[in-house]
Amino acid sequence: MAKPDSNLEKIDKSTLPRHVAIIMDGNGRWAVNRHLPRVAGHKNGVNSVRAVVEASAQLGIEALTLFAFSSENWQRPKQEVETLMELFVTSIEKEVPQLHKNQIRLQFIGDRGAFKPKLQKKINEAEMLTQENKGLRLNIAANYGGKWDVLQAVKSIAERIEVGELKAEQITTDMINDYICLNELPELDLFIRTGGEQRVSNFLIWQLAYAELYFTDLLWPDFDTQAYTNALESYAGRQRRFGLTGEQAVKQNNA
Ligand code: IPE
Ligand code: IPE
Ligand code: MG
Repeated sequence: MAKPDSNLEKIDKSTLPRHVAIIMDGNGRWAVNRHLPRVAGHKNGVNSVRAVVEASAQLGIEALTLFAFSSENWQRPKQEVETLMELFVTSIEKEVPQLHKNQIRLQFIGDRGAFKPKLQKKINEAEMLTQENKGLRLNIAANYGGKWDVLQAVKSIAERIEVGELKAEQITTDMINDYICLNELPELDLFIRTGGEQRVSNFLIWQLAYAELYFTDLLWPDFDTQAYTNALESYAGRQRRFGLTGEQAVKQNNA
């Protein structure tokens, strides 16, 4: 890991989220603003990924989930999709050894079956290599869609009903949760979207139920450790009530 960032040392650890998810948006506009091809934005975006991963690991955040490619992104120009796929392969090759050294456990969520065998192999190898690591849980959402996530959970439950193992009336929200991606991790606390849009774009729809939302106009390649710190500070200043009154929430937190 790069040298520990002394500014991060000053952050009050008790107010940090346990699980952060980020829609890394604005790469294309970042490049176009510089008269560069859109893919230059994606390439530069890798530096921001490194910055938030390192900061999260240093801060002891338990899980970080990054939206890298949505199920809708296949509809982009062929050349852009191809370059993104190549960038996934080269980034895994380049970054995984360092991630592994830093005890980071990597996991991909989404329908990986649609990727070329070479990329699927890289993904599987990276997961295998890092599976025993005890540090930050880094989840990359690739060919992921929130609706796909719910669909695969519904299918798994329906299969259990089909074989007579379960009755429809026995389905609970906890049971659905057991089949939804990332259920083994702390619940999502903070959702960040860069790039100025204020929408979810089919990211973690189930997991977002009670997450705090943070939007910034910064384009993803401009999102640095300071920008991340600002988002964490915004989170720290919020009162999460989970349906309770403010007073009840304070009491519960002090209990
Ligand atoms: C996000 O940046 C990266 C991916 C969707 C892969 P965009 O490529 O969407 O950037 P903008 O929104 O066009 O600027
Ligand atoms: C969301 O960004 C997907 C990723 C960042 C990977 P998009 O740029 O695809 O979202 P929309 O289309 O503007 O909603
Ligand atoms: Mg976009």
